[in-house]
Amino acid sequence: MPVHTFILNGKRVSVDVADDERVLWVLRDVLGVNGPKYGCGLGVCQACTSHINGKAFNPCSVPISSIRSSDRITTIEGLPATVGKPLHPMQEAWLELDVAQCGFCQPGQIMSAVALVEEARAKRRKVSDADLDALRNVCRCGTYPRVREAIKAGEARMPKAKRKPAKPKAKPKPKPKPKAAAPKRP
Ligand code: FES
Ligand code: FES
Repeated sequence: MPVHTFILNGKRVSVDVADDERVLWVLRDVLGVNGPKYGCGLGVCQACTSHINGKAFNPCSVPISSIRSSDRITTIEGLPATVGKPLHPMQEAWLELDVAQCGFCQPGQIMSAVALVEEARAKRRKVSDADLDALRNVCRCGTYPRVREAIKAGEARMPKAKRKPAKPKAKPKPKPKPKAAAPKRP
């Protein structure tokens, strides 16, 4: 079987699986990373939500063959390391507001929440009520009101990414002086 390689939670991994194997099964069954949950397997419930290159995705719906060796996949297990702390600020907010009930959907909820805040920040704005309405993570225990509250609390705690200083504008090159005409021969 072909070998597929990518970066998982900061470490390079290689797996020997069929091209059409979905990433969720690679994570859970081959690599033993069980944070992303299996709910529908169809990209509907969002229980498996993880990040690829910082953006939310559903590994249950992505074949391993479409993952490039430079892709960085982050699951709930690797989320705290992205801020260099034992817990990500969104997880702290989740605990403070006692969001979870059975807990099954919660890794996906938190991963969606972090991606949502990052997406809003990239557009230089805060998470809006319309953004929260658009979240599609299913919770059979009905924790939705606490999830919404925790996203706002987590957003306030999340460190802002340092912006790179703008490059100084290049000075315009001086125009070359016109060459003096060669003296005419007598
Ligand atoms: S298991 Fe991936 S979206 Fe439901
Ligand atoms: S906490 Fe039970 S499914 Fe969401």
